[in-house]
Amino acid sequence: IGGQYGSEGKGQIVGYLSKEYDLLMRVGGPNAGHSVSSESGLYVYHHLPSGCRDASAEVLLGPGMTLKPAALVKEIEEVKISSDRLSIDPNAMVIEEEDLINEQELVEKIASTGRGGGSAAARRILNRYGNGIRLAKDVVSLKPYIRSTLERLQIAYRDKKSVLLEGTQGSALSLYHGKYPHVTSRDTNVAGCLAEAGISPTRVRRVIMVIRTHPIRVGNPDNDKDTSGYLKHETSWDEIARSAGLPIDDLVKTEITSTTKRSRRVGYFDWEQFQHAVALNSPTDIVLTFVDYISRDNRDARRFDQLDKKAIYFIEELERVAQAPVSLINTRFPRTGDERKDLRTVIDRRNWTALWNPLDKFNPYLST
Ligand code: IMP
Ligand code: MG
Repeated sequence: IGGQYGSEGKGQIVGYLSKEYDLLMRVGGPNAGHSVSSESGLYVYHHLPSGCRDASAEVLLGPGMTLKPAALVKEIEEVKISSDRLSIDPNAMVIEEEDLINEQELVEKIASTGRGGGSAAARRILNRYGNGIRLAKDVVSLKPYIRSTLERLQIAYRDKKSVLLEGTQGSALSLYHGKYPHVTSRDTNVAGCLAEAGISPTRVRRVIMVIRTHPIRVGNPDNDKDTSGYLKHETSWDEIARSAGLPIDDLVKTEITSTTKRSRRVGYFDWEQFQHAVALNSPTDIVLTFVDYISRDNRDARRFDQLDKKAIYFIEELERVAQAPVSLINTRFPRTGDERKDLRTVIDRRNWTALWNPLDKFNPYLST
């Protein structure tokens, strides 16, 4: 799950973890764009779990999802995932053209991605006796993949398989817990993601919350209007480039939203927001991304003690506030044209055991 306003770099982290899991599952809808840079190049996932192009795990799309069938079929073809590996729950909701039209006003007013997920979810509730509702099971092109994901999960539980559930967007965009009306159409926190997936909370071993050093919100469609909502301590890419010693072009080129290609707004870290995200999700692990925005030198760090002092103090403070370890640290995002082509960007400080369960093992962070 994301701990801020989305775009925390969840894709890259899920891509890193995906090879360790037997089953990858996604919820949410195509308003999310999750970028993964791997041996096979850069890919932006909109429906499928991040990293499934490079992993061999079984893949599930949950019943609470909203789908755009044509875009999903294209993604399935690009990722080359076979019908025996992918199950789409028959109850997932289909986004229609009318949903895109319905959201046009939201695009203007709250910088919605306008991908139709919210409208489709609302129609699902309103039209239970009416026409115009299509679920995934009603779409011919999806037929080969339609299978109850709950049944697939039960088989996985029986066989003691590991499941990685990938949330989308961020805690502060939650329909219930964000600052309404600048929110998305679902609960983006861990409980909401589990509900959409159909996974019981007692199955959960780890809650991994991804945050970035400098939270972003999507850009305003009209630059003069503050449409995408509140952002504490807002600053500029120029300011961050200057203080971190990064080339400004790197930031301006890369800090474009994956779905709508708008330039992102950026702020300094918001501790109050972090504390709320921690309260809503009780993460067992924090993942910190974009440490190169603290200092460019952090791009070259391979171990924790090679990070600069500012980053180390920041991470220690995160651990104190969250009462959870910062287990993974992403030092940079490898881009096409990156001269080093080095994909080892994650400092991995996990000390997980294979079947670690927060309820039955001593956890120094949760018990003190
Ligand atoms: P909607 O969910 O597309 O209607 O967008 C609601 C608000 O959340 C808008 O400010 C969007 O730009 C933002 N938002 C939605 N999805 C994402 C995401 O995946 N990353 C970042 N921001 C998002
Ligand atoms: Mg994104």
